[in-house]
Amino acid sequence: MVGAPLAGALQPVKGSIAMFLPSRVTVRVPATSANLGPGFDCLGLALKLYTTFEVELLPADMAHDREPLVEISSAWGDDPAIDALPTDHRNLFYQTLARRLADLAVPVPAVKVRASIGIPPGRGLGSSATAVIGGLLAAEAIAGHAHSEKQRVGLVNAAVALEHGSHSDNVAAALLGGLVVTSWDERNSAWYAVRASLPANLCAVLFVPVFSMDTIAGRELLPGQYTKADAVHNLGHLALLLAALAVGDLKGVGAAMNDRFHEPYRARIFPQLPDLLAAARSAGAHGACLSGSGSAILALTTERTQEVASALARAAQSLNIDGRVVIAGLDHCGATVEIDQCRPAVEINTSSREEVVLRCAACARHFPLERTDYRCPCGQPLDVALDDVGTAMDGYAWRQCFDERLSSLHAVDRSGVWRFRELLLPLPGVAPITRPEGQTNLYPAGRAQHSNGHGRVGEFTGLDRLWLKHEGENPTGSFKDRGMTVGVSIARWLGASAVACASTGNTSASMAAYAAQAGLHAIVLLPQGKVAAGKLSQAIAYDAEIRQVAGDFDRAMVDVERMCLDEGIYLLNSLNPFRILGQQSLAFELMQQFAWDVPDWIVLPAGNLGNTSALGMGLLRAHRLGLVDRLPRIVSVQAAGANPFYQSYLDGFSSFHPVKAQTIATAINIGDPVSYLRAKSVIQATNGLVAQVTDAEILQAKAAVDRVGIGCEPASAASVAGVKQLVSRGVIQPTERVVAVLTGNLLKDPDAIMLAHQVHKQTLSEISV
Ligand code: F0G
Repeated sequence: MVGAPLAGALQPVKGSIAMFLPSRVTVRVPATSANLGPGFDCLGLALKLYTTFEVELLPADMAHDREPLVEISSAWGDDPAIDALPTDHRNLFYQTLARRLADLAVPVPAVKVRASIGIPPGRGLGSSATAVIGGLLAAEAIAGHAHSEKQRVGLVNAAVALEHGSHSDNVAAALLGGLVVTSWDERNSAWYAVRASLPANLCAVLFVPVFSMDTIAGRELLPGQYTKADAVHNLGHLALLLAALAVGDLKGVGAAMNDRFHEPYRARIFPQLPDLLAAARSAGAHGACLSGSGSAILALTTERTQEVASALARAAQSLNIDGRVVIAGLDHCGATVEIDQCRPAVEINTSSREEVVLRCAACARHFPLERTDYRCPCGQPLDVALDDVGTAMDGYAWRQCFDERLSSLHAVDRSGVWRFRELLLPLPGVAPITRPEGQTNLYPAGRAQHSNGHGRVGEFTGLDRLWLKHEGENPTGSFKDRGMTVGVSIARWLGASAVACASTGNTSASMAAYAAQAGLHAIVLLPQGKVAAGKLSQAIAYDAEIRQVAGDFDRAMVDVERMCLDEGIYLLNSLNPFRILGQQSLAFELMQQFAWDVPDWIVLPAGNLGNTSALGMGLLRAHRLGLVDRLPRIVSVQAAGANPFYQSYLDGFSSFHPVKAQTIATAINIGDPVSYLRAKSVIQATNGLVAQVTDAEILQAKAAVDRVGIGCEPASAASVAGVKQLVSRGVIQPTERVVAVLTGNLLKDPDAIMLAHQVHKQTLSEISV
């Protein structure tokens, strides 16, 4: 069945916007107990008791100035301190989130926050620290920053600043987990935080009274100055505590947890404190203390946890204090962050839709963006005009921006396509349909490289420094996914309900998968009997409507263009300029993998010439924008039985004649390539060249790539066969740096494997004769 025909030009879907935010961020923050007796203001211990903040990012068209909605639920039952927590912009979690986003220069999105309170406020269990760390980490996630364990330590300063003061103990432990020592480092004017060792079997028993103790009031009880004797006492005890915990001397822990700085003063407003601590100790706790500034009590145990819990409950009852006893393990990980899939939220691009047009490369005529036949009346394909796109920043700034995104948690940043979004899609309002794609391996395979056992490909080709860029590692197993993620995103943006392509197999597999993801009907026109088994199976599995064409790919291409025009279906062959745009990302990703250096040659197989065009256009733009300072030479390799581009090249590109194609490499079995003109200009502009290789050369090269454990489909091996030929002809020097692009996965064409092996054996026997 065909999707409903689209009347006239497609219209962009209204109400969507660009830039990518998570749809939801969930931060879970542990409770913390500060001081542990003598470690006044410098020790924090994380406990397995959590408050969770779930931030839902609302659609960006919702008013930003409306009050944030903070919904609070509590696992703690009725508690006046929880009832008193603000649910508007004064909420500490929200305030911290907004302040951190402002520090990061990221606009504050409209949000709804659900706080599930597992840590009651005002009990010395770090409940404000949970709000501060929660807000800080949620903001970092919204800004797309991921933090390794090491990088988290760097957030301690920001956390203390956001906590409004100089209290690092709770926030550092909540952020990092475990036992954390913090101190102000005068020399560097920064907080220093170190995770200290703990015995693995240590457990915490808490007694949490119903009454809370205000931290500020608790501080006012403390003296302004301490005696030298008290200072020496606390220093010694703190050192003993850390050392005893580190070596597992639990008796030493008990002896060390005796404080003269705060507990005796706070006990004045909590007269039952000494009795409760004594009850815990006599029941077998290794040590017991006031948790932070109270009112909770912390007892450290190993074997006698239950006994200590019961003793605390009994003592509280006999002392007439209401409260709850909680057994909590120690948290060793710190706060955790979970991010749900990204969606577009606010505009990031400077270009507006009106500025983006389609242009004919041949006659320079302009057309509106909504035009979807993608052919100029002069017959040539249209391109997206990208003249000024990216010029707002210099090459250095772009490199920094793209490199930073490599450590992001967002799928759009990790995508080897959308990471370069500003250069690819200067359109506000497009929601990416992404897996993510790209990020494919670049295998060193030269003779002189540390090539992880892949050096035999270098020996085969005669090259010291060769890299295989495996585009067959994309989600559907071919390079087509780079263009398809952009093409299908545009199809959705334009409001299409059905998409179509003609294909030698890979385009159809890719389109079917992305259309399925986007909820679009997919129609694929395939040359009957000429599509490899793996590719056909994919299109069937992804639920595409399959139409077999009695003829070759070139026939199917003519048919699909007509069908799309007649039936208002959105065309997704590489005639589509947005597919070419997406495929330009191969150039950016490759250069980034080379640390923005440039190899001497990039060699790739060619059929319809979309990939040659896209790679070249991407490289030329990277050069123009200053991302790289020179250009590699591009080599486009055709199968000898499907070589119209090669013939034209021999002729100095003065003429072009389609051919009747016949090659074993079914993917490039194309005689009348759509992107001839685009490809011709990039070969000329990069001082590139075109080569042809026989089917036997392709199969030999495929066997060489397969047997080192990498593997590719036959058409992909044309690039390696081309490299070998050009080295033996003296065009490429053995010491030059060469990238061969492998366009499709080994599994795409299982039938070709036996053939490649036969050819390989034959070659070996010819050599040994
Ligand atoms: N390699 C593979 C594995 C391919 O599938 C294709 C094209 C090419 C190389 C050539 O790329 O056409 O951009 O020059 N496959 C298309 C398809 C035609 O329908 O899957 P090109």
